[in-house]
Amino acid sequence: MRRLGRWAIAGAVLLVGRGQRRRQLPPPEPVVDAWEPAPRAELLVAGLLLLAAALAVAFIVIYAGGADTQLLGLALGLCFGTLAVASIVTAFRLTPPEEAEEPYPERFHSTEVAEVEQIASESGRPLTRRRLLGLTAGSAGLALGVALLAPVASLGPVFDTNQLRREPWRRGVRLVDSEGRVLRADDIELDTLHTAFPEGANPEILASPIVVVRVEPARLDLPVGRRNWAPGGIVAYSKVCTHAGCAVALYRAPHFEPSRPRPALVCPCHYSTFDPATGGTVLFGPAGRPLPQLPLAVGPKGELIALGGFSGAVGPSWSGVRE
Ligand code: FES
Repeated sequence: MRRLGRWAIAGAVLLVGRGQRRRQLPPPEPVVDAWEPAPRAELLVAGLLLLAAALAVAFIVIYAGGADTQLLGLALGLCFGTLAVASIVTAFRLTPPEEAEEPYPERFHSTEVAEVEQIASESGRPLTRRRLLGLTAGSAGLALGVALLAPVASLGPVFDTNQLRREPWRRGVRLVDSEGRVLRADDIELDTLHTAFPEGANPEILASPIVVVRVEPARLDLPVGRRNWAPGGIVAYSKVCTHAGCAVALYRAPHFEPSRPRPALVCPCHYSTFDPATGGTVLFGPAGRPLPQLPLAVGPKGELIALGGFSGAVGPSWSGVRE
């Protein structure tokens, strides 16, 4: 009986309330003064954002295709410049200059609002100018983000570090200069630095370039097991500094007094100095290990040839390289 009574009261309330008109809401007060739409400015901003996205993509393409430093800087600089112009136009032409606050209104007619939202979602989203600006801004942001992350690839191989250990030197490979001419033992003069590469191999492989010098045989004091690695006092070492990987490009062997201390290979980056007469040992500087030595021999026609691979790992020291 009590339940029946509750149902009766609820029905009476519904009947009474049905005849009443819905409470009319006053029209909302404008928050800021009416702001004139500026379709041209909106299109200009959208175009600038697209241009910024294209320049960011151009940065990635240039980086992937060989990374010309000046072109990279130009693409990135223009991208940021375009974004700056788009921001300025947005600030002056598309943003209302007034600030106002009002409490967030209570949500009336939630059922009707939900119906309208459903109709809008089912009828597809038209490309309004606001949406266009959002899409172009998102494209520019995404492309610029990828462009800024792209140089991370230059930090080196992550999954295949074995390529750092590959070397093109084998027994019998001839030494050639940067023009591809075969180096002969007679070409190597005392106190002169030569750069050589393995014949027929990719000169850009880390282990390809070597430095070749002739030291007086009487001065040679190579480690045990390398006695026959230096025909006529000619020695060869990796050109890649064992400190941080710069090219060992200097040979300290003055032709005038004072000519001491003795000749040495020098890396110009932080002045690591290596002794060619004692197996590339470190005489000075931050390098932590000797330059890897390449065993040499003289072929039947006087050409210089390798007797095998390097004495150690080529390149800067990283985890595990001293094993
Ligand atoms: S890279 Fe050669 S001394 Fe630092």
